[in-house]
Amino acid sequence: MTKLLSLIDKLEQNHSLTVEEYVYLIDNRTPEAAKILAEKADKVRRQIYGNAVFIRGLIEVSNICKNDCYYCGIRKSNRNCERYRLTPEQILDCCDEGYRLGFRTFVMQGGEDGFFTDEVLCSIVADIKQRYPDCAVTLSMGERSEESYQKLFDTGADRYLLRHETADSEHYAMLHPKELSFEDRINCLKTLKKIGFQTGCGFMVGSPFQTTAMLAKDLKFVEEFKPDMCGIGPFVPHKDTPFADKTGGTAELTCYLLSIIRLIHPEVLLPSTTALGTIDPNGREKGILAGANVVMPNLSPSIVRKKYELYNNKLSDGDESAQRKENLAKRMQSIGYEIVTDRGDVKSKKKEGI
Ligand code: 5AD
Repeated sequence: MTKLLSLIDKLEQNHSLTVEEYVYLIDNRTPEAAKILAEKADKVRRQIYGNAVFIRGLIEVSNICKNDCYYCGIRKSNRNCERYRLTPEQILDCCDEGYRLGFRTFVMQGGEDGFFTDEVLCSIVADIKQRYPDCAVTLSMGERSEESYQKLFDTGADRYLLRHETADSEHYAMLHPKELSFEDRINCLKTLKKIGFQTGCGFMVGSPFQTTAMLAKDLKFVEEFKPDMCGIGPFVPHKDTPFADKTGGTAELTCYLLSIIRLIHPEVLLPSTTALGTIDPNGREKGILAGANVVMPNLSPSIVRKKYELYNNKLSDGDESAQRKENLAKRMQSIGYEIVTDRGDVKSKKKEGI
């Protein structure tokens, strides 16, 4: 326990550990260590963001995807997936409703659907920004060219989410078909950051073939890449994928890693993800208590929600829906946090003097 405690202290002070130390921290974790990490994570988060929890309205714009990622329910080869695509008008309607409900960030997420050319996507971004200049627009639309990212940024998109999925290139190749490469993924992330987006990376916890050494690499990657946002959630199998019979990740390890990431980057925007809420009825709360400060309720039209099934039983209604924001607010209040009507931008280290 003493080595574990001294590593936690070191992480708190230096915001950095070696890969070997991250391995030790993960492999030798105990419920007590998790509690200490969560308390420290909560303390630094409160110093920067207080008890605010930022909300994002998630609009799942299309489940049509040209990729065939082995873990994902909307992969191209899944014949059982009923495909849909929202029209630009439907997307704007979602924003109208979201604005009324108090959302000031809209996240457009979708498969890599060729319909969303630069022209189409830029026109939607421009429309949202014109209608709601006080709102942030986040895109989560996969790998695109530098030129494309630049156009989207110039049109007014503020943030971009692109999970790196795993920081180990061999593991990346076990999760994706050969058309997708780790190198391309990392290059996209670097490009997004260079252009000036608030950039988010992230990975799945407990994905097939993942070892502790790989998770440690993920933490090192997060440490060095310095993302503004970091989305992590448990892997959850989907019945119509090659990984149907694989074991899913746990809420316990996900929360432990959330606390570590909060200590690596005190100012990072860290969602308590839908996947975490899906595998544990109190997953959202547990994530927030571990150091997360963002939740992303579903703002998609209710008729398409069930179709954006990345994994089995993915939550989309109930307290997961944007319309039940008040309920979510109550749940957050019950654990000492407040949902705020705010864009919820990342606070820069310099401004905060940390
Ligand atoms: N389990 C958990 N997360 C998944 N994602 C895709 N499929 C799954 C799954 N089966 C995550 C990926 C992707 C994000 C949009 O959803 O990390 O980047």
